[in-house]
Amino acid sequence: MKRHHQILPKVALAAILATPNAGFTDTLRAIAPQEHGAQQQEFVHGSPQVPSKEWTLAAGGRIYDNWWEALDRPEPDGINPAYPVSVNDQQTGSGTWRCKECHGWDYQGAGGIYSQGSHFTGISGIMGMRGAPIEEIMPILRNESHPYTTDMITDDEMLRVAHFVSEGLTDMRAFIDYDTRTVIAGVGDTDRGRAIFQTTCAACHGFDGRAMDWGAGDDHNFVGTEARELPDEVYNKISNAHPGAAMINLRAFSLDDRISVMRYIASLPSGLDD
Ligand code: HEC
Ligand code: HEC
Repeated sequence: MKRHHQILPKVALAAILATPNAGFTDTLRAIAPQEHGAQQQEFVHGSPQVPSKEWTLAAGGRIYDNWWEALDRPEPDGINPAYPVSVNDQQTGSGTWRCKECHGWDYQGAGGIYSQGSHFTGISGIMGMRGAPIEEIMPILRNESHPYTTDMITDDEMLRVAHFVSEGLTDMRAFIDYDTRTVIAGVGDTDRGRAIFQTTCAACHGFDGRAMDWGAGDDHNFVGTEARELPDEVYNKISNAHPGAAMINLRAFSLDDRISVMRYIASLPSGLDD
């Protein structure tokens, strides 16, 4: 890390002196966050020889989030032909190939958080398939609504997604207030969340969650920012990890533990001045 040798402009230096941690996050932002070393390739994109159920569900969840980042495939070129452009002309890029774009971070599609706004499609959620047999789910994932070729997602990989649909979904209405899109006050255990965060997540995100910043310019985006604004997305990252990144996940921990971590990180700083 070149932190100590950097020559900082006077303005930046003043800002750093005025705000604790600013220098730290400023420096880290210069490093492309999704890059990972060759020794992590297997953990990030490969699969274990004897996959546990927990690994399979998290791996399926990462494909649901962003399959090309999860599987190290080329990003699809342009809009998904199955995307309903007549309903929503605001989404035009490769993002329309992500499962979450049509079915939501909360798996409830137009019946959930994507019932309005720039991600609205009118497409239903997938919660109705919870507990369904894999043989019933697999053909759906290759039908005309899902034009994924086996070059994009192989059958083995799609099987992970089917397991995720059958056994990996959670009803987020139990812990997210859908009117305000925030974690419901009183759910989870802050002390338990703090304990897990400080002993696992902090290795990369720092004790105050500000060691990594995926914001642009002055628009800072820390785990704290994300947990306050997009708890449904953060719940997916906690349970499955961030696709393409060398990040751990808490799939093997209880649902209560995952909610507690989410509740705790929503209390961490969301900006540089907090
Ligand atoms: C471009 C939009 C779009 C994307 C992206 C998309 N789907 Fe769908 N999906 C649909 C539509 C449309 C249906 C049919 C829903 C309906 O009957 O209203 C559907 C149905 C489903 C169903 C059946 C739900 C039920 O209750 O019958 C499942 C499961 C499903 N999708 C999973 C996925 C998964 C997993 C991915 C990613 C690999 C994905 N979808 C990506 C549009 C999409
Ligand atoms: C081994 C390092 C590591 C650990 C441990 C780790 N993360 Fe991450 N996390 C990352 C990386 C790398 C990213 C990707 C950042 C990016 O793409 O800009 C990330 C991204 C995230 C994101 C945001 C993804 C987004 O862009 O929306 C959240 C939320 C998150 N982590 C939460 C957690 C939580 C909670 C824990 C503990 C359960 C945790 N992380 C543990 C490395 C880690």
